[in-house]
Amino acid sequence: MKVLVIGANGFLGRKVIKEFQKTENVIGADVEFTGFSLKCPKIHLDITNEVEVSQIILELKPDLTILTAAMTNVDACEDFPDKAYAINALGPKYVAKAVKQIGGKIIHISTDFIFDGKLGNYSETDVPNPLSVYGKSKLQGEQFILESGVLSCICRTSVLYGWPDIGQRDNFFSWAFKSLVSGKIISIIDGQITTPTFVNDLANCLYWMRNFETSKIYHTAGPEKLTRYEFVQQILNKMLQNRSLFPNLGKIEKITKLKQKALRPDNSSLNTDKIQQDWGKNFKNLSNALNFLDIEKLKNKI
Ligand SMILES: NC(=O)c1ccc[n+]([C@@H]2O[C@H](COP(=O)([O-])OP(=O)(O)OC[C@H]3O[C@@H](n4cnc5c(N)ncnc54)[C@H](OP(=O)(O)O)[C@@H]3O)[C@@H](O)[C@H]2O)c1
Repeated sequence: MKVLVIGANGFLGRKVIKEFQKTENVIGADVEFTGFSLKCPKIHLDITNEVEVSQIILELKPDLTILTAAMTNVDACEDFPDKAYAINALGPKYVAKAVKQIGGKIIHISTDFIFDGKLGNYSETDVPNPLSVYGKSKLQGEQFILESGVLSCICRTSVLYGWPDIGQRDNFFSWAFKSLVSGKIISIIDGQITTPTFVNDLANCLYWMRNFETSKIYHTAGPEKLTRYEFVQQILNKMLQNRSLFPNLGKIEKITKLKQKALRPDNSSLNTDKIQQDWGKNFKNLSNALNFLDIEKLKNKI
């Protein structure tokens, strides 16, 4: 199977490439390639450029296109709403149109931030009501894909965590871990409940789904509903169990308010019953993911 991963240089994109390369013929596309060189063919592709999107997809004719590319800085989206709309809404529209033309299919990655967070435990049939420019633009991207009629799986996920490759930006997890290792006191909000998702598990789940034959929306996220504080507290607890490795261990300060440009949902946790029923996929909880990652190894990577 020929698989085109758009957003190949990003956090999820790189893990997806590694996962699919086990058996498939993968091509990575992104606006920029930094850091570690990807061990697959790479092409420049800006999804906001409809002509470029069409040319490349019609030429490559991938059997499966995985769209992980997005403008993911939620606060920056408030500052640059036109850019957010172009990347998160129009980008998926152009990709869907071209993929439909070649008779291919798409896995598109979306977000829990399409919900307002008043209820939590959202299932795929719950009604979205995004609070931020990021959430609105991502929801519009989903709608464009559905309207295009392309064969698609839309996978909504939540706070991706794991270890970034060399040269990649930190995620919330790697930032907290590095800060604690270096003895910092970090202020973490006791709120914003999500279902943190181990990025390697999501990449593996997408791999399992690669032969999907009907269009569906899935909530592909971790099994635990955690506040930001609970999430970091678990990381710290694991480090405390291995105290001798961390002589200069930092602390967490619990806060109840955090000044952020974009509104965040109070509880955007996702219900993952459907992905478990259809594909039998269970994602690791944070404790198991920490065991898998091995905090001693992580410390040595810093
Ligand atoms: N990270 C999370 O916690 C989280 C939570 C829920 C949902 N999601 C969704 O999961 C997906 C993957 O997230 P991620 O954390 O892997 O994001 P990421 O690390 O920011 O990766 C996104 C990639 O897309 C690229 N990109 C930006 N604009 C582009 C354009 N016009 N054309 C082509 N590529 C472009 C980015 O390049 P630059 O870095 O140069 O901009 C980056 O390499 C996204 O759809 C996101 O909305 C993420």
